[in-house]
Amino acid sequence: MILHIPGVLTRDEVADFRARLLAAEWVDGRATAGPQSALVKANLQLSVAAPEAAALGGEILDRLGRHQAFIAAALPARVVPPLFNRYEAGMGFGDHIDNAIRFDVSGGRRYRTDLSATLFLSDPDDYDGGELRIEDGVGHRSVKLPAGDLALYPATTVHHVTPVTRGVRLASFFWVQSMVRAPDQRQVLRDLDRGVIDIRGALGDDHPAVVRLTGVYHNLLRQWAEA
Ligand code: NI
Repeated sequence: MILHIPGVLTRDEVADFRARLLAAEWVDGRATAGPQSALVKANLQLSVAAPEAAALGGEILDRLGRHQAFIAAALPARVVPPLFNRYEAGMGFGDHIDNAIRFDVSGGRRYRTDLSATLFLSDPDDYDGGELRIEDGVGHRSVKLPAGDLALYPATTVHHVTPVTRGVRLASFFWVQSMVRAPDQRQVLRDLDRGVIDIRGALGDDHPAVVRLTGVYHNLLRQWAEA
């Protein structure tokens, strides 16, 4: 399932991010690609060693750690330090699947990539093309979100970014290792979480049905989570 998580960054935060990113030094995006994806990747990335990458990535991790919709959907065990990319006219990224394991050199950690995430930092009106297209079993879903919003999708899917034909597309991208590895189990927990929120609103926090179903949520999470 492809999820739209709105409002990870505010409008003011997006403007601040854009100003700092546009002043930073960009390198060829193939620096972090595997051998297959390097063949189809044509974009620019902020160097992993760039001070802006660590600073802005840390701010994104901070926002995600407090974003209830993200936490409920991803059930994150840990999040790979965010990277940043930039597509100018003529740049795109052909079909690929993200690497299963990411190694963060700075933190010396390995991550299993259960979910892929794109945080849009340019508004759809600022560029043409540059759509994230994700295979969903029926066909392709096109994703082009407002700046500050996050697309979260299974890292198991083939996806590509169509060539930008006008303007500049800035984004952050990263991966989530989830406490709950199986997508169908994450989906059950997310549906149950939303249902519990609805009945809390209708019946009140202390209604026996709310207490019981909240318990079911936590008992399923206890069975399925690797903490
Ligand atoms: Ni990708």
